[in-house]
Amino acid sequence: MKTPYLLAFALLVLVSCKKEEAILKESYLDLPAEPANYVEGINNNIPELGRVLFYDKSLSINNSVSCGSCHKQVFGFADNVAFSRGFDNQLTLRNSMPIQNIGSGFFGITPFIKVEDFSFPGFSQSLFWDGRESNLDQMVLKPIINHVEMGITDLNELAEKLKTMPYYEPLFKKAYDSEEITPQKISTAISWFVRSISTNQTKLDKSRQGLAQLSALELNGQSLFFTKYDCNSCHQVTIPNGYLSLGGGFANIGLDEVYSDNGLAKTTGLSTDVGKFKIPSLRNVSLTAPYMHDGRFATLEEVMEHYSEGMATHQNLDARLRNADGQARIMNISESEKKAIIAFLHTLTDFQAATDPKFANPFKSR
Ligand code: HEC
Ligand code: HEC
Repeated sequence: MKTPYLLAFALLVLVSCKKEEAILKESYLDLPAEPANYVEGINNNIPELGRVLFYDKSLSINNSVSCGSCHKQVFGFADNVAFSRGFDNQLTLRNSMPIQNIGSGFFGITPFIKVEDFSFPGFSQSLFWDGRESNLDQMVLKPIINHVEMGITDLNELAEKLKTMPYYEPLFKKAYDSEEITPQKISTAISWFVRSISTNQTKLDKSRQGLAQLSALELNGQSLFFTKYDCNSCHQVTIPNGYLSLGGGFANIGLDEVYSDNGLAKTTGLSTDVGKFKIPSLRNVSLTAPYMHDGRFATLEEVMEHYSEGMATHQNLDARLRNADGQARIMNISESEKKAIIAFLHTLTDFQAATDPKFANPFKSR
């Protein structure tokens, strides 16, 4: 090929690349013209922006992970592996937690109450397995600056970075009436999105409203769960966030004789808190395997096995899991009882939340 032809060809390639780039920019996001109704009574462009941020890998230092990489909608916003990989391929130290009903009141009718305003005595809005955070607005920035998870070192730099993304300024303008991007606005938007994820459409909820009927097997499981094995004294399944516990919402369930992760004691420094972890909500538990703070159990059958005969008599083992003589309770849950309890646990799944497009990844190509 002669030089002029070559030049013309190169120019052609360049122009078509530019054009492609423009098309790409327009097609980054698949957002409805009007935002979905996330939270009654607020500007829903804020949680909609939060959704974009939640799924945007640009929030990690090397554009490799987003919140949604570890909190996957189909798995109840948990991850389907024991430990998740952060931006640098390092593993998290704990099992990703499901995100649901954060900041919800205890009857599930006030799901968007401000966490800070909720002062019912004994109510604990403890976040993370060891309860080290209680303010959601501040908490949502923690994974971004976590050196295993997303690795950003300066939130102001993140704000600068987002300014260079083609889609953010219009989204911030819609949400806050100003294109200015600040860490504060980033955190508010993510926290409103996170707060809006509620799981109160389970079969159990519907049955309590007379809209569905539990099967004989599920009813049997319910009675074993509430009465014979007293599981509900910790996992209060009728309460959406599942941990309004007057005991503070943490317990040691005898997973180990010696814990490699001390749990709540890492936050409080008390030896009486060693091996205590946040009592998880069992809503969506059928979607959130593997189980426990370290993802040690792959299935609900294995969890049942633990409660049936696997508990260690740790010095902090919860009194509800001990016999009168102080030893770990051997529940000897029969095979048919295990099946029934597991069937009951499946009535706690909210398929609506796990499939709702308003909680889905809005990015087309990433
Ligand atoms: C690399 C994986 C990873 C990424 C990325 C990640 N998380 Fe997490 N998330 C976790 C793990 C692991 C835990 C439990 C940590 C612990 O207890 O120490 C957790 C816990 C949480 C909790 C606490 C839930 C509760 O009930 O206490 C929330 C909320 C949360 N993450 C939101 C987010 C948000 C928002 C982002 C994005 C800004 C994000 N996460 C990014 C892995 C991740
Ligand atoms: C003393 C309080 C307590 C009682 C009673 C109790 N649990 Fe738990 N449960 C917990 C705590 C705390 C965890 C998390 C422990 C950890 O990860 O270290 C847990 C974890 C679980 C999990 C795994 C959830 C997840 O997301 O990883 C399931 C399932 C479960 N329990 C079911 C039951 C059943 C069924 C019973 C009754 C047989 C029961 N629990 C009784 C406190 C309790």
